[in-house]
Amino acid sequence: PGSKADYDLSRPIHPAVGMRQGLPNYGDPHFSLFLRKVFIKALGYSEDALSRPIIGIINTYSGFNPCHGNVPQLIEAAKRGVQLNGGLAIEFPTISIHESFSSPTSMFLRNLMSMDTEEMIKAQPVDACIVIGGCDKTVPAQLMGGISANKPILPLITGPMMPGSFRGGRIGACTDCRNNWAAFRANEIDIEDISALNEELAPTAGTCGVMGTASTIACLTAALGLIPLRGGATAPAVSSARLRIAEQTGANAIAAAKHKRTPQSILTEASFHNAITVLQAIGGSTNGIVHLLAIANRHPEVNGKITLQTIDEIGRRTPLVVDLKPSGDNYMTDLHNAGGIPALFNVLRPLLKLDALTITGKTLGEALDEEGFRPFPLTSQIIRPLDNPLYPSSSLAVLYGNIAPHGAVIKASASKYRHLLTHRGRAVVFAGPEDLAKRIDDPDLDVDENSVLVLQGIGPIGFSSPGMPEAGLIPIPRKLAARGVKDMLRLSDGRMSGTAGGSIVLHISPEAALPESVFGVVREGDVICCDVERRMLEVELDEAEIGRRVAERKDRLESRLEGLGPAETRRRPARGYRGLYERSVMQAQDGVDFDFLTANGASQ
Ligand code: FES
Ligand code: MG
Repeated sequence: PGSKADYDLSRPIHPAVGMRQGLPNYGDPHFSLFLRKVFIKALGYSEDALSRPIIGIINTYSGFNPCHGNVPQLIEAAKRGVQLNGGLAIEFPTISIHESFSSPTSMFLRNLMSMDTEEMIKAQPVDACIVIGGCDKTVPAQLMGGISANKPILPLITGPMMPGSFRGGRIGACTDCRNNWAAFRANEIDIEDISALNEELAPTAGTCGVMGTASTIACLTAALGLIPLRGGATAPAVSSARLRIAEQTGANAIAAAKHKRTPQSILTEASFHNAITVLQAIGGSTNGIVHLLAIANRHPEVNGKITLQTIDEIGRRTPLVVDLKPSGDNYMTDLHNAGGIPALFNVLRPLLKLDALTITGKTLGEALDEEGFRPFPLTSQIIRPLDNPLYPSSSLAVLYGNIAPHGAVIKASASKYRHLLTHRGRAVVFAGPEDLAKRIDDPDLDVDENSVLVLQGIGPIGFSSPGMPEAGLIPIPRKLAARGVKDMLRLSDGRMSGTAGGSIVLHISPEAALPESVFGVVREGDVICCDVERRMLEVELDEAEIGRRVAERKDRLESRLEGLGPAETRRRPARGYRGLYERSVMQAQDGVDFDFLTANGASQ
């Protein structure tokens, strides 16, 4: 190995591989390389090791992140894959975001994680990078950052947790967390049971075991061609299969580095069409929409081409075929055991663009052919044929109307009372989550089962908690829940967990916190009309009245900074990351990314 050759001043440093890559940040490229090697040798690496392709491994382990509890074992297996194939694996950390331990919201931190990921991949001399992640916001952040950094990136998904068991029935985070909590609120189960359930809902490390956001994004990552079809999205976090995926990812990273398979060179509009087809076919999380838009907009050639309309159009021709909670009944382990992604993609073949490229250099069609798959009884139980779907089409639909001129989203397939998908009712309005918490269970609240529950102020900026908190699953008022009401039409500018269900309209844009928002001026008693079939969401007010209300509110917002209700607190400029966030965040239809991070954002 040519240590001396690296210091031969008469020869340029070329090619830029491993330790040789990087800007001549000390002005003198030979001296820069000399210094890099001085310092890395302090960790004990030999010239031989340092002459290999260098594969970075991003470590997102954290004591606060049980969804990433298996990351240490995954790193070990991925390193083995890299090193068996002649490379040098070097791990490094980025931030770690868990849903339950990210105040005010994990979404608030997603863009920060994407910046951390992008800049660390760019900064360090890696030829390719394995990015390990699983929990909801992590993989989107890593794909966003990875596409922007544009070195070969290989996602390695941590994998779903196993289901737990309670009195002989299977349970799992977190659809069953919500169902059981709702049952507890309605006095259907007692405090003994709810505390016993708490022990069993998340029985192993790994991501939520239903078709929530984490599982959704894992399936979309497979559709984008970035992870192995067999097991890459579905193998349980605690399985030996998951470790073999990690080893395989190490081997794939060496090949991707050698052929410089960067995300911008692999991903095309067709890849995103495939991802949206899969999103609709699995009854995926509404969060998947926001993330996909943000991911697509990081790609210079795809930016702006994938919109809410694309999601709706593809939905109209895509049936929901996967029977998993919250739209269906089963768990991710069932999908895995039924043949997983190869079985699913085989069913979806006629709807997929099979010539889209994958990280291995094969097309999606070639990768599928190579897998081959023979269906068995469990397959058709969990993955329905196209002509006998769980829901005929448009499991996720996009609505427009005067309160959502830039769109709103509903997971129609997860509605519990289907008649609510065409509904007209009186608005009961809450100005932010605090107001909701204060009044929702008030016995005097003027509400019945035909009312439309409206929660304002939980959009990207929001009244008090930025990042679209997952508060869109507005609880059924306790007095109605006690009478057995299980679903109502609910509207917000926020998000809901991918594990949740109900007749819930989300991501209303522009959000209530913006002065021009019509959603922000909806008042108690206004009549709301929603028609999912016609993709329509309206408040029954004439334009003049809307104009008057918006103008009046704008004046209020602009004339005073403090001392008003929660709706106005955001007007005070914030410092630090929150300040950056509030100045730069875009609305839901643009993926809630920062304006300066998209491919069309400010120049590098
Ligand atoms: Fe991490 Fe659900 S909390 S995936
Ligand atoms: Mg979630």
